[in-house]
Amino acid sequence: MSNNRREFLKKTAVSVAGIHIIPSWSWSKPVAPSDWINVGLIGCRGQGWNILRHHLKNDGVRCLGLCDVDKNVLNERYAQVQKEHNQKPKLYSDFRKMLEDKDIDAIIIGTPDHWHCLQTVYACQAGKDVYVEKPLANTIEECNVMVKAARRYNRVVQVGQQQRSGVVWTEAMKFIKSGDLGTLRKVNIWANFNYGTGAPKQPDEAVPNGVDFDFWLGPAPLRSFNPTRFHGNWRHFWDYGGGLMTDWGVHLIDMALWAKDVTHAPTTVMAYGDNLSFEDYSRETYDTMSVIYPMDDYIITWQHAAGLQNGPYDMLYGVEFVGDKATIVADRAKWTINYEDKNKSIDEGASQMEPKKKIELNDMDLHVENFLSCIKSREEPNCTIENGRNVALYAHMGNLAVRSGEGKLVWDNGQNIFTNTDKANAFIKPEYRKPWQFPVI
Ligand SMILES: NC(=O)c1ccc[n+]([C@@H]2O[C@H](COP(=O)([O-])OP(=O)(O)OC[C@H]3O[C@@H](n4cnc5c(N)ncnc54)[C@H](O)[C@@H]3O)[C@@H](O)[C@H]2O)c1
Repeated sequence: MSNNRREFLKKTAVSVAGIHIIPSWSWSKPVAPSDWINVGLIGCRGQGWNILRHHLKNDGVRCLGLCDVDKNVLNERYAQVQKEHNQKPKLYSDFRKMLEDKDIDAIIIGTPDHWHCLQTVYACQAGKDVYVEKPLANTIEECNVMVKAARRYNRVVQVGQQQRSGVVWTEAMKFIKSGDLGTLRKVNIWANFNYGTGAPKQPDEAVPNGVDFDFWLGPAPLRSFNPTRFHGNWRHFWDYGGGLMTDWGVHLIDMALWAKDVTHAPTTVMAYGDNLSFEDYSRETYDTMSVIYPMDDYIITWQHAAGLQNGPYDMLYGVEFVGDKATIVADRAKWTINYEDKNKSIDEGASQMEPKKKIELNDMDLHVENFLSCIKSREEPNCTIENGRNVALYAHMGNLAVRSGEGKLVWDNGQNIFTNTDKANAFIKPEYRKPWQFPVI
């Protein structure tokens, strides 16, 4: 981290609602080699690589291992780590081999969602701390077993919902909890993105050179190779992901839970979803969805229309917190307040919206710094594995309400079953393809 940035962070340090945005472990003096944090990355192409770079911005972080089942990705990332950071990590195609390296303290998991569970559990068993990307896993029971593993092996696990460390959201939460919003009655969320349609359809083809496709599929069912289900595009197929509902749902629904400090799984979910457009695009997940979560004393709604690049308030995604005294609208860059009392309007012009800070601090930098700080302190990170599990269940149940054909699901968290229908219970735990076995903790 540069000195300028460090100073900037110190000056703007905030600690709100128990969330420590600024870490303290590596600022003021050079880090002794014995205090270095050594990391290994599994899944090097997109977000995994991004998160590794955020780690390597920090003094005293070294990359000892890179693992990917696509040699083309692996070699490219190795060249970049060497060039940009003057480091020479070992290269792996099998993550289990990398986990044997006793010098690695922490593992970053940037693989598709269907791999998160096994890799997190194995990493915890190997005594590593873990930064695992969101959604925590691709099914409910995988989330459950990951929580058990993290707690049993006493590991620091940060889930990659970086908004939990973001300044915009932390400030908005402070405002909501101060009472200035009045009673929070409703949180309306939307996420419309072009990419949510998947890629234009293509026929199956030969597996590209350098790719171990069987290992990429891992515990998921065996099938032939199709580029529209592979790198990046996998998120639109149930075997590997949950579409916009889980991809963005876990980030944004989490803000609705945080606003009232909800720490429990959903109880009831009602949803409608379908594929209504973009027929020439390759996907199973729904392009159009509306979901309602009735909470104890408020309502959360979720909307998405994939293929659109706009939405309410001219924002392609956002969260609207509706209170008696004011409504807040937020995205990752800004939050605005619309007071019911129009005399409180700051802007005397056409708009009653009071724009709050445009935030320059990067959520991911802060989230990674919080992880590194917790590796040292052994404190709970900003997004615990329980936070990750709970919101993943909200998002998955939106999809399951539609996939089961029921429209409404009632969940008993103690028994870990849906009580109003057996049709959705079939989706709780995946059947792993041999030789992979569902972990037992
Ligand atoms: N927090 C965020 O804002 C954010 C943003 C984007 C993606 N993500 C999450 O990051 C994860 C990765 O998404 P992406 O878009 O980078 O996917 P991607 O397809 O671009 O990259 C995944 C990489 O994992 C590799 N891989 C697959 N199976 C592997 C295995 N068994 N061992 C080693 N490597 C393996 C692939 O070859 C590929 O290089 C997902 O869980 C996604 O939801 C989070």
